[in-house]
Amino acid sequence: MQRPQEPGATRSRYSSGAILFHWVIAALIIINISLALVTDGWHGPARAFAIQTHKATGLTILVLSILRLVWRLVHRPPPFPSGIRRVEAVGARIVHWLFYVLMVVMPLTGWAMISAAATRKPFSWYGLFGLPYLPVQGNKALGGSMHEAHEILGYVMIALIVLHVAAALKHHFLDNTRLIARMWPAAAPAPSFSEKA
Ligand code: HEM
Ligand code: HEM
Repeated sequence: MQRPQEPGATRSRYSSGAILFHWVIAALIIINISLALVTDGWHGPARAFAIQTHKATGLTILVLSILRLVWRLVHRPPPFPSGIRRVEAVGARIVHWLFYVLMVVMPLTGWAMISAAATRKPFSWYGLFGLPYLPVQGNKALGGSMHEAHEILGYVMIALIVLHVAAALKHHFLDNTRLIARMWPAAAPAPSFSEKA
């Protein structure tokens, strides 16, 4: 539940919609990366099941990320808490926008990669209904470059997640800005704010 605003007050927490999108998509991305990497050396039905689930979850992330991006473009985030230096605020904005780009481009490279295969494997939403392929079947060059991009961007995403979580924990606990409360679902005392970045 969002706290009611005092007249003239500047919002210091993210909206409920932004918080819901943030945590659902973050959980799905972490599950999806784990599914691909933990089962990397596996063979047979267990690996096939993991990759089927990975593909369905990846496409779910794509749809949710597009909706989130639209939401983000029409909702301004709260200003950063005071105590955050200008360089940190700019760095955070850059990482946030890189996330938005990767949340759309990552699934697209995976989708293009599997669509380009000469022999296609089953592709469904958790076995409930079939999902479409992109019209690039048999394009070996595209498949190869999309596979490479998917792998490299996967590691870029992991690096950004580590950086993002480390920065959030640093600002919350070491700088005492209570930054995570701004993105936490339960109502919590809001930190002070400034108009940086
Ligand atoms: C945000 C969404 C996604 C993330 C973060 C993600 C991440 C990853 C990562 C880290 C890997 C391991 C890289 C490697 O070792 O090759 C991987 C592999 C894979 N991904 Fe994704 N992926 C996403 C979406 C998708 C989608 C939408 C599809 C297809 C519809 C897909 C298909 C695959 C396949 C088939 C592999 C295995 C490739 C191989 O066996 O070498 N991914 N993904
Ligand atoms: C895959 C994982 C994650 C992704 C892709 C992600 C992505 C994002 C994005 C795009 C924003 C910017 C929202 C906006 O202003 O438009 C954001 C904000 C935020 N994230 Fe994450 N996030 C992830 C995981 C986490 C985790 C695990 C934490 C916990 C420490 C966290 C804490 C925060 C906080 C506190 C903010 C608000 C920062 C502020 O007040 O300006 N995130 N995240």
